[in-house]
Amino acid sequence: MAYIEENKINEIRNSVNIVDIIKEYVPLTSKGKNFFGVCPFHEDHAPSMSVSSDKQIYRCFSCGAAGNVFTFVKDYENVSFLEAVSIVAKKAGISFDFTNNEKKTESKYSDLFKITSDSSKFFQNNLYTKDGERALDYLKRRGFNDEAIKELGFGLSTFNNSLLTFLEKKGYTASDIDKTSLISLDGKPHDVFVNRIMIPIHDLDGNIVGFTGRDFNNSDGPKYINSKESVIFKKGMILFNYHRAKDYVRNNHELIIVEGNMDALKMYSSGIKNVIALMGTALTTDHVNAIKKMRSKVILMMDNDDAGKLGMYQNGNILKKNGIDPEIVLITNAKDPDEYITNFGVDKFNNILKSRESFLNYKLEYFKNGLNLDDVSDLSKYIKLVLSDLKNENDKVLIEVTTKKLAKDYGLDYNNLISDLIPDTGETKSGAIKIEKENKEVNLRIDEAVANIILGMASNGKYIKLFIKQLGFLPEKWQRNIVNEIRYYYEQNKTINLADFISYLSDKIDMQNIVLEMVSKYGDLEITDELFNEYIHAEKKILLNKEIKEVKELIKKEKDINKKLELGEKLTKLKKDVEKNGSN
Ligand code: CTP
Ligand code: MN
Repeated sequence: MAYIEENKINEIRNSVNIVDIIKEYVPLTSKGKNFFGVCPFHEDHAPSMSVSSDKQIYRCFSCGAAGNVFTFVKDYENVSFLEAVSIVAKKAGISFDFTNNEKKTESKYSDLFKITSDSSKFFQNNLYTKDGERALDYLKRRGFNDEAIKELGFGLSTFNNSLLTFLEKKGYTASDIDKTSLISLDGKPHDVFVNRIMIPIHDLDGNIVGFTGRDFNNSDGPKYINSKESVIFKKGMILFNYHRAKDYVRNNHELIIVEGNMDALKMYSSGIKNVIALMGTALTTDHVNAIKKMRSKVILMMDNDDAGKLGMYQNGNILKKNGIDPEIVLITNAKDPDEYITNFGVDKFNNILKSRESFLNYKLEYFKNGLNLDDVSDLSKYIKLVLSDLKNENDKVLIEVTTKKLAKDYGLDYNNLISDLIPDTGETKSGAIKIEKENKEVNLRIDEAVANIILGMASNGKYIKLFIKQLGFLPEKWQRNIVNEIRYYYEQNKTINLADFISYLSDKIDMQNIVLEMVSKYGDLEITDELFNEYIHAEKKILLNKEIKEVKELIKKEKDINKKLELGEKLTKLKKDVEKNGSN
């Protein structure tokens, strides 16, 4: 079934030229084989986006946006993938039953979403009954007016079993109710949330997947109770308020990340709508992917306490590792954004939002925590912390400027400090640094080889065959998953090209993101037989060397002399194989 739809989607894509479609949105000028234009997905000044008529893809070498005609329309118009397909179909004059198709792709959890959304309405209704007076009063005191309360979906859970009874009356099955984790079936079935302010939690698409319940009675229990993880509620995949924020982020190209739900809701209802909250967790890979999709500047603004400062440091590092350099806003005179707005008003808050510092600057201060820089031993600790952090920095100018400042501020020798960071003399002054650099280079090469092997296979069936014959597999699970999809697609369709394969990945968003990242990095490369073979050889060599290392370890550990000999033979063979691949 999905197979037929896929054909239709490919037919629509093949009936248009991506250059013509993008031209309707952005002026393009031709230069050589490609077309160039100002990228609409970030604040672009020089034309950074190239569009390839051969490959039917676009890529921006500045912000990393990449994809086919559908992802362009989808991201530009801010619509779903199927809506984008239907827009392109219309332009191509092809009839395409969009509503019908959308129904088919409706989430498999829509039954559960009905329960969560009915529950939310139930909670909201409670708030405006006699039972809700005190809770409503609490929310008003915290600065939410009726309009905000309704828009944000605040509600109230009342006495035990009230929700259970309500849901049963509505005719939901116990098994479905159970799956939402709103009711506990441990022992006697009972409501999980009793007498709490209820705040709905949505997934990235805006479906209600759970709740967080705040105590408003100063009771002995925890301040917040959250829905348990369930098939629909996965904390590591949810960013609080993302579904509301995403439209605004697209407009002003900035995303603010705060710690608490209440902070996000208070900011949102005060007009600062491009805000999401982490709900007290660290950023996961799924989070980072969702954030990356926004292609915006990221501003971290965690609480004004030790946990918040640590969170800013840790989450900042996670973002940095993933290619996002966040900006930092520090809150003073209040514990968190919510308290600040309540105490000083949104205008003052907007002012502090404007005073940002770089993540590096933040770290330079952060590292001072708990150290007395007048003490030589503490000062030396501090300098070491900074230097080891700078080693992960790629920006050479930034390294130089920071090191100069460090030398000046603390009366140290600049040349001494910088020699550790940029060993330009070729001498091996510090073994540790050299090894780290080498590792980095190897990693880069793996990336490049793997990316181009994958892109090659997704562009042309002959490279799939070559890959199977010459290499057979890639080392990482995620890489193998992509290869499996490529092979599956090719088996089904008997042909493959990058642009259609990108469409195919539209319901496997994580995978699509990875492939698009590869496209944005290497999409301009013309993959030839020779080049593909080179990458295969490079990868093979990397894999063999890895295996050699593992076998060597095994030999070291092995006590049994016969097994040791066997391993030795294996090692010899592996070394020969490396030599065979040696030309490259
Ligand atoms: N949190 C939680 N359980 C708790 C305390 C906190 O799950 N007992 C999570 C919540 O998601 C909360 C976040 O951690 O939003 C940040 O905690 P905190 O700063 O204490 O909450 P606030 O957002 O400040 O909440 P409030 O203003 O209502 O006190
Ligand atoms: Mn708070």
